[in-house]
Amino acid sequence: MKKTLIIYWAPGGSVEKAARMLHETIGIDKAELCDLAAFEVSRMPEFENLIIGTATIGAETWRDANDNNKWMEFFEKTRSYDFSKMKVASFALGNQIFYPDHFVDSLGIIRQEIEQRGGKLTGAWPVKGYDFTDSIGYDGDFFFGLALDEDTQPELTQPRISAWVEQLASEMKF
Ligand SMILES: Cc1cc2nc3c(=O)[nH]c(=O)nc-3n(C[C@H](O)[C@H](O)[C@H](O)COP(=O)(O)O)c2cc1C
Repeated sequence: MKKTLIIYWAPGGSVEKAARMLHETIGIDKAELCDLAAFEVSRMPEFENLIIGTATIGAETWRDANDNNKWMEFFEKTRSYDFSKMKVASFALGNQIFYPDHFVDSLGIIRQEIEQRGGKLTGAWPVKGYDFTDSIGYDGDFFFGLALDEDTQPELTQPRISAWVEQLASEMKF
């Protein structure tokens, strides 16, 4: 049984593209890749590692977002799930040129939701190499997970994913 789950939302764009790259980089035999809409929350106990992929869509919190955000539904359904039982990491897509004040904010939102359920994010990633002014997705010199910008730095997506997977491997033991 695969011990690592990669769940992402939304499908059809850069998040899915990055999720597929991540899946290939970890090894498709070692991780399961799932669109959030197709994932049954009852399967959570099957996995030791969870990697969450999101885009930042511009709302302060998902509860303010009005586009039927599936993550809100996921975190409602996992309200009493103890995330301390798993290793959890997050990657987020954003655009540092168009949204420099909110670059990859979703990393901060995911962190908050995971911590409210007893978990802790692993896979902090250096802010060096990005150009932004503010974000709730970082603290000091590190983002709370992997920041990807397919809009303005697409050539860096694969190298960043490769380095992040190497970093995560010691903790997640894929
Ligand atoms: C309406 C809208 C709002 C966005 N807001 C932000 C934002 O606040 N911060 C950010 O870093 N990127 C923001 N982005 C950029 C997206 O996160 C980025 O383009 C991402 O790659 C989209 O992923 P997708 O193609 O899977 O939807 C926004 C994009 C759109 C269309």
